[in-house]
Amino acid sequence: MVGALSAALLCTAGVTALPAAARTPDTPGPADTAHTTGTTPAPRLPDGLAKTPPMGFNNWNSTHCRAEFNEEMVKGIADLFIAKGLKDAGYQYVNLDDCWALPTRDGNGKLVPDPQRFPNGIKAVADYVHSKGLKFGIYTSAGIKTCNPAGFPGGLGHEKSDAQQFADWGVDYLKYDNCNNLGVDAKQRYRTMRDALKATGRPIVYSICEWGENKPWEWASDVGHLWRTTGDISDSWSSMLAIAKQNLPLAPYAGPGRWNDPDMLEVGNGGMTDTEYRSHFSLWSMMAAPLLIGSDLRKATPETFEILSNKDVIAIDQDALGKQATVLKSESGRWTLVRQLANGDRAVALFNETGQPQQISTTAKDVGLPQADGYRLRDLWQHRDTHTTGTISATVPAHGTTVYRVSADRRWADYPPAVETGTDRTPLVEAGTPADLRSTVRNLGGTPAKNLAVTLKAPQGWQIKATSPATARALPGGRTLTTSWRITAPAGAAPGTYDLPLTADYRSPRGERVTAALPGTAHVVVPPPSGTAYAAELPWLTAANGWGPVEKNTSVGESASGDGGPITIGGTGFARGLGVHAASEVSFYTGGRCSTFSAQVGIDDESGDKGSAGFEVWADGRRVAGTGTLTGADAAKAVSASVAGAQTVRLVVTDGGDGIDYDHADWGDAKFSC
Ligand code: GLA
Repeated sequence: MVGALSAALLCTAGVTALPAAARTPDTPGPADTAHTTGTTPAPRLPDGLAKTPPMGFNNWNSTHCRAEFNEEMVKGIADLFIAKGLKDAGYQYVNLDDCWALPTRDGNGKLVPDPQRFPNGIKAVADYVHSKGLKFGIYTSAGIKTCNPAGFPGGLGHEKSDAQQFADWGVDYLKYDNCNNLGVDAKQRYRTMRDALKATGRPIVYSICEWGENKPWEWASDVGHLWRTTGDISDSWSSMLAIAKQNLPLAPYAGPGRWNDPDMLEVGNGGMTDTEYRSHFSLWSMMAAPLLIGSDLRKATPETFEILSNKDVIAIDQDALGKQATVLKSESGRWTLVRQLANGDRAVALFNETGQPQQISTTAKDVGLPQADGYRLRDLWQHRDTHTTGTISATVPAHGTTVYRVSADRRWADYPPAVETGTDRTPLVEAGTPADLRSTVRNLGGTPAKNLAVTLKAPQGWQIKATSPATARALPGGRTLTTSWRITAPAGAAPGTYDLPLTADYRSPRGERVTAALPGTAHVVVPPPSGTAYAAELPWLTAANGWGPVEKNTSVGESASGDGGPITIGGTGFARGLGVHAASEVSFYTGGRCSTFSAQVGIDDESGDKGSAGFEVWADGRRVAGTGTLTGADAAKAVSASVAGAQTVRLVVTDGGDGIDYDHADWGDAKFSC
């Protein structure tokens, strides 16, 4: 496979049409009073199921078809739902994905559970799950076979019998996939199963999984209770982000009983940091997405349980109004999402897509709250109530999300004032040489923050000195305390990233103690050597890539590290350079000591004629070179830029405006003159 495509979606849809007998006429469900856009009433299924987005577990993201997907696992998950309080937190469905069946039906055309995985059959597992007060789900495909290459039987042409078999087993939820569908019209395939499920008389949540190919949000509100909007998620930041961006614009289509499904959770599977998993969980909850846990809870860390059990965030996902968040603002990777809640509150997510801390701000007025002197502000990850006179603002760590529940509350002044902590930079420190940093603590409230003390905590052996006041007896509402700091890393400190957390301790007028923390970092850097410095040989400050890791002196190849080929653009090879994949950003510390950067850039020949990307060079905050869009058909293009005086240089690759598929991009012969 070349580039960022979802492997699981490469299953082929055949072209032969089904016999007419397998088709049913369109039978739209009865219209109800639900509205999608405020003007167009959207019909929905009349069964009253999935009034809030379904919550539960599905094995696929953690096991795929591996042998560990079996009865023992499924029972173990059900046990943990109880033991770890997940059932109490709202998780209900324990669902099987692909590979539970044998490849052939029995003599009566019935599906046969794989006896290795499910030696006691499926009903026994369903009974066990039900005995815990939970619900049970299963999977098949709206095609003649499921998606796994082993080819398990699909439901196409067997809808009635399969639906009845599921109902007899006690199935409460069906995920209906899209592989091997013989090119039969999607609406027809999914409606046929809807009608078959209905005919069983058993309430079954119906999850349409056709990956957004036929825009199900436009026609499926009375076919299923939820519909996948995208291809498969994988356990990476770039996959999660790309899916969120596809799903966000579909907000008008979601509502009780009819949800956009941006795919199951990856929280806890190991491919993202906990900060990124908190963003994933926050975004999914803001988007009123189904929350289907996708990690093997038997091996999950306490942090994973803490994220998945965050009742404050779950309450946003499960809010009875069922309105998916909309994007209030999105600017240079700083996102403000707002979701209207049933009691009139607003959920506000400040999401930082970038690799640097970012200040993201809005106001109570802009998120749609009525005019008032103050508002209650609940931080849903800190579980802390404060108040604001209107500003909603935070410095959000790289890839992080701050989520607030904001309420018009007459008793707002009973809560401590919110303070916003920030720094003016992520310091770049040469070992042994002092560097400067400024911190700010702003009181967003209407009452004073008393006995304020600001602390910057450095690693062992570092020196830190406040060169201006770091305390205040009282910081009045609306005021900011700015403190200058001088920090020195010990001579010999190894290059890399170090924690540099900032905290502001204060008391509310009622004496309540509050600590506001900002998880900052500092980089210990080494100046580049004088002469020619190749980009592949200099240490990176940061490196982000849309597919696999950034590679030194090879193309990006596949998603594993070190699996690229020789850098080759339009038939010309380059012994040195960086192999990246859009969207990418690699940054370097040049410390004002380099004069120029140059490279030969283009799409690597491993993408064939496909792929398109733009190459940009940034010196500090200035764009000093840009190629416009280059495609897989183009020869290498020379880029050269003055970087004189710059402290940092960033090499940025954009997706050329058409998504990141096949965008294997090379910085051939990339070098600095220093
Ligand atoms: C498709 C679906 C996935 C998963 C697999 C199983 O790719 O989109 O969610 O169910 O099939 O084979």
